[in-house]
Amino acid sequence: MKRLLAVVGMVALLAGTGVALASTSGKLRHIEVDESNEARQRGAETITGTCLLCHSLTYVRFSDMTDIGMSQEDIEYLLMDQKIDDRMMSLSPVEFRKESYGKLPPDLSLMAIARKNGPDYLYTLLTSYYYRESGDIDNHLFPGIRMPDVLAYADTEPGSAARAEAEAQARDVVSFLVWAADPNADERESLGVYVIIYLIILTILLYLLKRRIWGRLPETTAS
Ligand code: HEC
Repeated sequence: MKRLLAVVGMVALLAGTGVALASTSGKLRHIEVDESNEARQRGAETITGTCLLCHSLTYVRFSDMTDIGMSQEDIEYLLMDQKIDDRMMSLSPVEFRKESYGKLPPDLSLMAIARKNGPDYLYTLLTSYYYRESGDIDNHLFPGIRMPDVLAYADTEPGSAARAEAEAQARDVVSFLVWAADPNADERESLGVYVIIYLIILTILLYLLKRRIWGRLPETTAS
């Protein structure tokens, strides 16, 4: 009975979050994720230069960025006082960040899959800052967010080059975070192609084998 109640509770909870998530997904701006290494590398610059001030990416090492086409020197250029084999941990101490923001900024390693419609969510979040009448900065997607407008989006005029640049930066950050959340996706896709080719060849061989074996049977047994 207890178990049944737990299951019913879970279902109700999931249904509840489904509704809550559905209500934000309407506000999300859709982007096509640029999966090129160039976009990911540009994103890496913003991540290491800006986001790491407050966030960590615990599951990614700086050296992993060789997988997105960066050389050892390219990566070292992005480092402050970290080592290339270090995990991408925030540059400021935990206590300091907790005190400054009232909570620890969440880890970004898996953020692209942790939120529903992750890429759209991240892009929309970074490009939803605006000035309220009071002069305070707020965020349309996440009202009252304790994260500052790190790309200075609210300071850009609609249609301006500066705004386009902030949007491009947000897009590249998303490319990086999508890669970071699933770094083996590219490999898996190319492996998938080999598996399919292998299966096609295997099917042809088995078909030929079948024809050979059945071909040996005398006609009469077939009827
Ligand atoms: C100055 C510190 C600071 C910097 C720099 C910063 N963040 Fe944050 N971020 C925060 C804080 C604090 C929160 C928690 C906000 C809250 O829950 O109100 C947060 C939350 C988030 C969240 C989670 C929002 C959610 O749905 O819970 C994402 C995603 C995020 N930041 C992405 C980024 C990215 C990408 C960058 C770099 C472009 C960045 N942040 C730079 C402080 C920072």
